[in-house]
Amino acid sequence: MLGNFSYSNPTKLYFGEESLCSLNEELPKYGKTVQLIYGGGSIKKNGIYNQVMRLLKDNGKVVVEDGGVMPNPTVEKLREGVQIARENHVDFLLAVGGGSCCDYAKAVSVSVHCDEDPWEKYYIRFEEPDCEIVPVGCVLTMVGTGSEMNGGAVITNHDQKLKIGHVFGDAVMPKFAILNPKFTFTLPKLQMVAGIYDIFNHICEQYFSGEDDNTSDYISEALMKSVIHSSRIAIQNPEDYEARSNIMWAATWALNTLVSRGKSTDWMVHMLGQAVGAYTDATHGMTLSAVSLPYYRYIMPYGLSKFCRFAVNVWEVDPAGKSDEQIAIEGLSCMEVWMKELGLTMNLHELGVSEEMLKGIASGTLIMKGGYKVLNHDEVLEILKNSL
Ligand code: NZQ
Ligand code: ZN
Repeated sequence: MLGNFSYSNPTKLYFGEESLCSLNEELPKYGKTVQLIYGGGSIKKNGIYNQVMRLLKDNGKVVVEDGGVMPNPTVEKLREGVQIARENHVDFLLAVGGGSCCDYAKAVSVSVHCDEDPWEKYYIRFEEPDCEIVPVGCVLTMVGTGSEMNGGAVITNHDQKLKIGHVFGDAVMPKFAILNPKFTFTLPKLQMVAGIYDIFNHICEQYFSGEDDNTSDYISEALMKSVIHSSRIAIQNPEDYEARSNIMWAATWALNTLVSRGKSTDWMVHMLGQAVGAYTDATHGMTLSAVSLPYYRYIMPYGLSKFCRFAVNVWEVDPAGKSDEQIAIEGLSCMEVWMKELGLTMNLHELGVSEEMLKGIASGTLIMKGGYKVLNHDEVLEILKNSL
């Protein structure tokens, strides 16, 4: 049965090849000084930087540059961004990039007018913002995280070996997000497939929970089928606009809170992946792919009927004459074949994890309680060992 819930999503989306022009509609709504947030330079190489700059100038904005946001943005970079915003009395934060830029912009937005240290306040104590929030907009260039239409902001603290996400509320979500699938064509293949797996796993995290008949699970199955179908086209031809646009749209819906409404959610693969990320700084999607199958194979007996349904409805496994367990196992095997087709990282060793690191990674893994099995630390360690 669907649980009680509220649903709203304040982010306005502009989708398609002409969508960047929508900055002309959005920028006039905000103040004069814009902090332009971007990563390590891909937007300068592919021309997106020049296009955005022109639109900012056309709209009479004073631009304060804040480049160099690294994949898996760090707490040091966050403090630097807050300083830039304060010194320049910034009115608006425009993130041009992937989840890292978007997440970072949100973390800056809640910290500019806050006296406390953002790491302590938002990532250790998980407090909600009680200060003025600087509005954020996003021009997306990398697909996967869903950060363009959610309140998530993940920050890494290398000194403490912790990577933690805070999911903020509506006030922190981007005011608008611009999604032009063509902007993703220049992504290296590794990033494209890591993003595809990130999408798929976001859906799994919300699908593998509960025994009830829930509309959200049917939506999830449709999204998963679309991602699998389009990914197979995109790895053959990364410039297939139809496939890349479907992947982009699926990514947004996979984590804009819709498919989690009315049900509990798991998120253990992400907790394992984040703990791995804190030790290795590895690409987010690859940290998930490395631990996923050992995790799902471990919890499968506790959620057998959903794993069966996954096999039949998503992977089109023929159930005739097979036990539930056989069907479920076959479903996960189909998933493994697809993951290998994409060229995903299938073990932790390839991410630079050694056996000695596993205890530390296990103790940095937050245990979630919404999935089919609440793990203890020994089980986390066992899953990590199976992922090595
Ligand atoms: O930095 P630049 O030079 O721009 O290069 C980036 C970066 O190296 C490159 N890139 C992006 N767009 C490109 C491009 N290269 C060529 N052409 C383009 N069009 O791709 C690399 C990865 O970018 P990044 O933003 O780091 O990737 P992603 O979107 O996967 O974001 C990862 C971060 O988001 C967090 C992750 O933990 C990680 O910190 N997540 C955020 C979530 C959320 N807000 O809800 C949920 C996710 O589960 C995830 O945890
Ligand atoms: Zn993710």
